[in-house]
Amino acid sequence: MADRFFSTWATLIRLTLLVSVWIWQLPETVFGGSSNSLMDITPNGLYLIVANTDSDSISLVDVKKNQTIKEIHVGKRPEGISWVGNGPEALVTLYNEDAIALVNTEKGSLKKLTGLIEPYGIICLRDGKTAYVSLDYPGKIAEIDLENWRVKRNLSAGEWCRGLALNADESRLYVTNFYSGTLTALDRVSGRVVDTWPGRIDENLSRHVLIHPKREKAYLSLLRSRTEVFDVAGSLLPYLTICDLWDSKKKPGETRRRSIKLDSYQGTYVVAEPWETAMTSDGKWFFGIHAATGDMFVSQVVDDDYRELDRQGRAIYLGKIPRAVRVSPDNQTLYVYTALDFAVQVYRISDMEHQKTISVCKAPEDAKWVRGNFLFHSANRPMTSRRWIACSSCHPGGLPDHRIWHNPEGYRKTPSLAGLAHTHPLHWSADRDEVQDFEYTIRGKLMGGRGLAPQITLKPRTEFRSPSELDQHLSGKSEDLDALAIYTNSFTPRLSPHIPAPGRLSEKAQLGKSIFFREDVGCVKCHSGPYYSDSSLKKPFHLHDVGTGNDPDEKMEPKYDTPTLLGVYRSAPYLHNGKAKTLMDVLTTCNPKDEHGKTSHLSQKEKEMLVEFLRSLPYENPPDETPNTVPFRRKTAKTALRR
Ligand code: HEC
Ligand code: HEC
Repeated sequence: MADRFFSTWATLIRLTLLVSVWIWQLPETVFGGSSNSLMDITPNGLYLIVANTDSDSISLVDVKKNQTIKEIHVGKRPEGISWVGNGPEALVTLYNEDAIALVNTEKGSLKKLTGLIEPYGIICLRDGKTAYVSLDYPGKIAEIDLENWRVKRNLSAGEWCRGLALNADESRLYVTNFYSGTLTALDRVSGRVVDTWPGRIDENLSRHVLIHPKREKAYLSLLRSRTEVFDVAGSLLPYLTICDLWDSKKKPGETRRRSIKLDSYQGTYVVAEPWETAMTSDGKWFFGIHAATGDMFVSQVVDDDYRELDRQGRAIYLGKIPRAVRVSPDNQTLYVYTALDFAVQVYRISDMEHQKTISVCKAPEDAKWVRGNFLFHSANRPMTSRRWIACSSCHPGGLPDHRIWHNPEGYRKTPSLAGLAHTHPLHWSADRDEVQDFEYTIRGKLMGGRGLAPQITLKPRTEFRSPSELDQHLSGKSEDLDALAIYTNSFTPRLSPHIPAPGRLSEKAQLGKSIFFREDVGCVKCHSGPYYSDSSLKKPFHLHDVGTGNDPDEKMEPKYDTPTLLGVYRSAPYLHNGKAKTLMDVLTTCNPKDEHGKTSHLSQKEKEMLVEFLRSLPYENPPDETPNTVPFRRKTAKTALRR
């Protein structure tokens, strides 16, 4: 009783303090919702809202009772969420629907705004009248007028926009480039780019940015893809990059970007896939979560422009694949969304004591797919014993990492995994015929894991010759390996944003299509069928030498499996070694002898039409079943693709 009495007084005093800070120092107060996340808390601290990416739903949590009130179905692949003021309305991005939704969490009703391509993060101004959405491809920030429910402006902020944050007085908008970690600042009123902090060449997968409530600092969670290294302990490294936000003209030549290496932050304790960060509103405590190892570092913020952070205690294990972290407005409580536990973990900040696990949503139906989803995103045993690398570190959400890796067999571009179930065999050189063969990757030099089927002795790989992975059938031998295959085979392509409407091509693309199918051009000899590939599991495989394999580093035969052309609008650079920077290069500079279809006799106009057709793929839904479709994939009702 006495405790409660004091805590009530303490709360009152704190509230008074808060209010006076609010009145006197408005620009210094922070606002929950000022950076993109899968979770948000109302400024009054009463309600938490969570976007459940894999369940197509959002969940409303009563913070006082630590209880989920309801789960609301919203649409495909929510990737970001923000309260509008103190609610009851919340905004959510629907990545796979190219839409955002305004959800009334009291009534459970929602309305959608479509035509926003690949919307990822979303944040809302304090007045609840304007919101900003980061559009991943090709990279824009949409400014949404919430009163009239329309896009007011589309702002340019570089390519691949994901991370999104506002500074305390809402005068500036900060945006991260997913594939480079470049940070861009926009003046919110003019909508113009006013500053940039370029990422290092190897910085990658930067999906979140946090702004210090009082100091000129931005914190980016990211990793480095070191493509010249093929090693469990060197290919992918976890980093926190801190940008100084002062104007570069103030101190010319001085670096405004420094990084903290997170795999040596606590001795030899390794973490993987830094995902998101949060800070208390007094700017004292800092929390960084790592999705692939499932843990978190708690640090004190050091105001020295050098050390920046001082780790407190050891890493805390949170649960399966944590993807969001938020501090309550009173700085007492920390919430972490452990996405593949489908739960929110509650911690008391004063001693970091775990208070509760709140279950927020039902797991998706297909349990094997859920298991595979976890394995794909995990850098813990048995996937790897060294904790640096998960499959998702190079295949984020099934998308490519936009990197060309120097693999033992030569340079290899990471392909998109969309449509994989229909385009086996696997790898550019078709040296694998089932996803279960990735047991070789798991146990090999890259991941160094025990494996998912440790009872099976793998045949040693005959170096770059007849591919031995093909000889041994691993499917049906381990539930986990099958689960990984089911998840990996379940990515579907999305309709190209470069078409006028689903099922339709622009006039130029239509002309390009007829060129593509012309006998004298010959594309369709290999890029045939609804997936635009003659890949087939019937042996011998259809491999083709199209004059692209003359790299001195190439260790395999210069013959490749025909890649699908669905989704090439977003997967530059092209070819197995990424030598073609654009689709036009595929047809011209990379095809000097007409070995890759005949293109030299085409006029410039015709080539441009052909490129326009390629950019428009897919313009219609490819079938869910072909003679080459593998059985290991997600069981769901067939759903149409949306754009
Ligand atoms: C270091 C980055 C990296 C990691 C980690 C990684 N991959 Fe890959 N993945 C690649 C690259 C590069 C290729 C292309 C290699 C090739 O074709 O020879 C590829 C190709 C593939 C393909 C074939 C796609 C196609 O269309 O042919 C599949 C399937 C795949 N990876 C699944 C996985 C799984 C499952 C894991 C985890 C066990 C994993 N990858 C880990 C980079 C990576
Ligand atoms: C003889 C079979 C064959 C023909 C004919 C052919 N292709 Fe290809 N295509 C391939 C193969 C094999 C690759 C992979 C080559 C590599 O990675 O080095 C490829 C790669 C591509 C790529 C790059 C895809 C990516 O993801 O990097 C594009 C685009 C493409 N082809 C378009 C065309 C067009 C357009 C034509 C007609 C002018 C054509 N192809 C004719 C077999 C063929």
